[in-house]
Amino acid sequence: MESVVSLNAVSRRYPRGVLALREVSLDVPAGQFVAVMGATGSGKSTLLHCAAGLDRPTSGRVHLAGRDVTRMREARLTRLRRDRVGFVFQSYNLLSELTVRQNVALPGRLGGPRARAIDDVLAAAGLGGLGGRPVGELSGGQRQRVAVARALVTTPAVIFADEPTGALDPSTGAQILGLLRTAADLDGVTVVMVTHDPAAAAWSDRLVLLRDGTIAADGPTPEAEAIADRLRGVSRVAA
Ligand SMILES: Nc1ncnc2c1ncn2[C@@H]1O[C@H](COP(=O)(O)OP(=O)(O)O)[C@@H](O)[C@H]1O
Ligand SMILES: [Mg+2]
Repeated sequence: MESVVSLNAVSRRYPRGVLALREVSLDVPAGQFVAVMGATGSGKSTLLHCAAGLDRPTSGRVHLAGRDVTRMREARLTRLRRDRVGFVFQSYNLLSELTVRQNVALPGRLGGPRARAIDDVLAAAGLGGLGGRPVGELSGGQRQRVAVARALVTTPAVIFADEPTGALDPSTGAQILGLLRTAADLDGVTVVMVTHDPAAAAWSDRLVLLRDGTIAADGPTPEAEAIADRLRGVSRVAA
């Protein structure tokens, strides 16, 4: 099966010489839910940004939803992200003066593919009664659900999530993870999620551990306790 996300020997060097990714190769098939873990500074966010076409590698190739985005022009890349990619990033701020429904409807309104019924997505995200509320009045957990609903509304090929449950209590976090899991299982959405939390990673199919800009381990996701052990293993020797 063709990969939805494909990195081939991707390196990313930042100004002042920091080599954040070192020839990373990673292929993610449709419907797979991948958790990316590693110590702070190991390159998780850089990997996610390069994979999502938000940042350009210094060398190597990136394919996203079947397209080579390595040197794609910005306007085309923006359309590809809009039509095929969902983001659950802290930096992708919701518009707090708009209602829940307006925020979730945004990708559709920007001219992407026909949105799935907004009401279905709101209900699935546990936001059924909140569609008319300004996002600025919601709790952190509710806002995070809006971010996930907005990512799901176009049924993207792939969702990239950076610490989607970072600031949430365990039960709200489990709801968010359940939404991502269901999108992968029922709609074949590929999910690539960065997390520090072994309990969150345990929802994934595949665990990728980064150490110092390289993939230190890559395989089927074990249970949370074993994830924590492996994470300690790669973090101890991190630069
Ligand atoms: N914009 C940037 N400019 C310079 N160095 C950066 C930048 N972003 C990240 N880095 C460096 O690249 C390395 C990897 O960072 P990052 O991908 O954010 O790691 P993680 O998400 O795993 O904490 C770190 O050494 C970090 O300091
Ligand atoms: Mg990061």
